[in-house]
Amino acid sequence: MSSSRSIMHLRDAAGGSTQIPTTSPSCIAPTAGGAVAKSPTVFMVGNSAAMLEVFEQVRRFAACEVPVLITGESGTGKELVARAIHERSRRAGGPYIALNCAAVPATLIASELFGFEKGSFTGATARKHGHIEHAHGGTLFLDEIGDMPIDLQGLLLRFLQEGEILRVGGRQPIKVDVRIVAATNVRMREAIAAGKLREDLYYRLNVLSLHLPPLRERDGDVEVLATYFLRQIGRELGRELRGFTPAAMAAMLSYPWPGNVRELIATIRRAAVLANGPLVDLADLRLDPPVAPLPPPSTSRAALRQSRPRLPRPKPGSDGEREAILQALQQSGFNMTRTAQLLGVARATLYRMLERNRIELTQYYSVQPQAPDGVP
Ligand SMILES: Nc1ncnc2c1ncn2[C@@H]1O[C@H](COP(=O)(O)OP(=O)(O)O)[C@@H](O)[C@H]1O
Ligand SMILES: [Mg+2]
Repeated sequence: MSSSRSIMHLRDAAGGSTQIPTTSPSCIAPTAGGAVAKSPTVFMVGNSAAMLEVFEQVRRFAACEVPVLITGESGTGKELVARAIHERSRRAGGPYIALNCAAVPATLIASELFGFEKGSFTGATARKHGHIEHAHGGTLFLDEIGDMPIDLQGLLLRFLQEGEILRVGGRQPIKVDVRIVAATNVRMREAIAAGKLREDLYYRLNVLSLHLPPLRERDGDVEVLATYFLRQIGRELGRELRGFTPAAMAAMLSYPWPGNVRELIATIRRAAVLANGPLVDLADLRLDPPVAPLPPPSTSRAALRQSRPRLPRPKPGSDGEREAILQALQQSGFNMTRTAQLLGVARATLYRMLERNRIELTQYYSVQPQAPDGVP
């Protein structure tokens, strides 16, 4: 299955229906580009311009062999992207090995990465292959690269330059064919300035870079991700969960999601259990007020002010408000972003207006009854 077909595939599945009010989500279900035909295990959902750009980058980067550095806050999908790149690359039939540099004690990273020879240290009773050797013919994902001990960074750099490793205690260099994909949630420039990261390693890893923006800056993603996960979790729980009330959706759109997609999934999972009926309501979400104020989303108020409403601005609570909303909905074909633009309000405000005017959009916000093929 080619990339564009898998996108089309889900577009057909979601976009052909009137059930999702935003423009249909774009998805990539990366599969092997050539010889290996296996069902996709990585399914990414997004609808924002930023994520569409990320999907495009995944496609382009998968076709190359050079290292990729993925940056972004925790929970934005860095590991998912690394896997997606592997699964779409010519290495898809080979191994995908992940090492979290922050989770392994510094003293063990060298032997984990490079392996060791028998007798190289007390307890080394047999030769052990490291992650790099295990990843031969495939991809090695180095997560939290900013946490790799500085002395090991030199060894990794040498591997990137020479394509060879030395096992701990070994003398014979071993040729290994591995593509490196690294990720970090720290600012690399600051890590270099603080002496935590070798600049030469940074340049070696950062041949291709891919940045995942925080969820709060991805206009249009919360709706499609929330709907997608509600459907998935509903199926897991064997519950018929049809969608969200406008109040719940408004709250999710205003919430800054400091834990990004990971937090969104946990929130939906809890809400799915707590919901009394087929709709998830505001109270079921149990959203905490944010601890510290976060930067506003990229749909800045200034930008909204500039995009002039095409319909007369209704007075809150007035009789005309309900009329105006229905008119805008119809005009936009129930596309919420467009409806909000027509009314000259933010999307979260639009959902509050729907709630205030008791406009039931349930049928438009219900989840897909069927999963598109290939979704695990
Ligand atoms: N665009 C997306 N579509 C579907 N699931 C996503 C997406 N982004 C992240 N996830 C899911 O969110 C969780 C966190 O993603 P992960 O890749 O582990 O983030 P990070 O490595 O940046 O901390 C995982 O369960 C992942 O599958
Ligand atoms: Mg991660």
